[in-house]
Amino acid sequence: MNKIEIFEDSFESNFVKKNPEVLKQHFGISDIDSFWIADMDYKIAKPITEELLKVVHRENYGYEDVSKKVNQAISDWYLKKQNIHLKTDNFIRVNNLLTAISILVKELTEENEEIIIQTPVYPPFTGIITSHNRKVLRSPLKIENQRYKIDFEDLEKKMSKREVRYFLFCNPHNPIGSVWDKEDVEKIYFLAEKYDVIVISDEIHSDIIFNEKPFTSFTSFENSKHITLVGSPSKTFGLQGISSGFIYIPDVEIRENIKNFTEKYFLHHENSLTMYATIAAFTKGEEWLNFLLEFVQENFSWIQTFLHKELPQIKVFELEGTYQIWLNFSELNLDLESLEELVFRKAKIGLTPGKWFGEEYHNYMRMNIACSSEKIQKAFNKLKKEIKKSMN
Ligand SMILES: Cc1ncc(COP(=O)(O)O)c(C=O)c1O
Repeated sequence: MNKIEIFEDSFESNFVKKNPEVLKQHFGISDIDSFWIADMDYKIAKPITEELLKVVHRENYGYEDVSKKVNQAISDWYLKKQNIHLKTDNFIRVNNLLTAISILVKELTEENEEIIIQTPVYPPFTGIITSHNRKVLRSPLKIENQRYKIDFEDLEKKMSKREVRYFLFCNPHNPIGSVWDKEDVEKIYFLAEKYDVIVISDEIHSDIIFNEKPFTSFTSFENSKHITLVGSPSKTFGLQGISSGFIYIPDVEIRENIKNFTEKYFLHHENSLTMYATIAAFTKGEEWLNFLLEFVQENFSWIQTFLHKELPQIKVFELEGTYQIWLNFSELNLDLESLEELVFRKAKIGLTPGKWFGEEYHNYMRMNIACSSEKIQKAFNKLKKEIKKSMN
């Protein structure tokens, strides 16, 4: 059976998500339910475990090259799921998506050049850009009718700047849970063409999409020089610790440049477990993924109903993609310290603080809902109790 099973953490595990020191550092206490880092609380799909066991039971880890099969598996998956033909020769695989972004930033841009990001966005984007001495150019998203929108006027102004040659795009967008509309992606593509800006499209969450919202991959614009796609099976299949990422680069010159870099550092000498897990995920993981989507969708529906009825002061943005929700606590009218005291230390819920995405988001928090429904329900009931207590 390929259904979703909850993973019960063992005492000895070293998962960052529950590491007491890390929890203490982030939340001031270690006795807290963890909803912050984007790891699922589920056991992975059985076919992946079976494939990994086969490799382990061989009891041999000689140099091995199954990269053609890995690329084929990724390409077949995109064809099946998104009806997009990706050429297997255009992939370069690296061990993490963040590694991919870091290599692209290092190799394709010059010091002090500006790279656009749309805030609020996954914090390591900023970290990577600044660690390479490049500048972050923020184009904040705007909220209209409780939905995030791209501010195209601002974006165009920024894309037209001479110092800007790259745009780090996130679709589906972490942390807000939006899947950008086809029109949005097309507009970005046309602006990128017009101003000669290359888009690095992080699509790591592109398989976690709800209610059949259509997803438009940047790879749908074929033969463009302006496109690189970064993806991974890690979020979709809970394979974060397997370290599997890929870059898809249609442009020969850019691809050769990046390939030379990865070969220079022998990043193409791959881990056997990673390769077999990736093949199994993309060839045999679909049934499990469908169960996962149902499970997460049910968690989200429960939260929406609960907030609406029991805690209307807390607003949640519609979840179109990713398994992280973006909660707005502004109506509680608490300063940052009081909000953190309430959520972390009193209700004991370890959410990702909004301030990690920028000081202006201190009234927001991100929550990973890929966990059991009991854990979610316990957390929101505790939150309700603590909010009530604080009002008395
Ligand atoms: C948008 C986005 N990109 C990249 C990553 C990290 O990917 P990896 O662990 O493969 O580096 C995450 C993890 O949550 C993410 O949300």
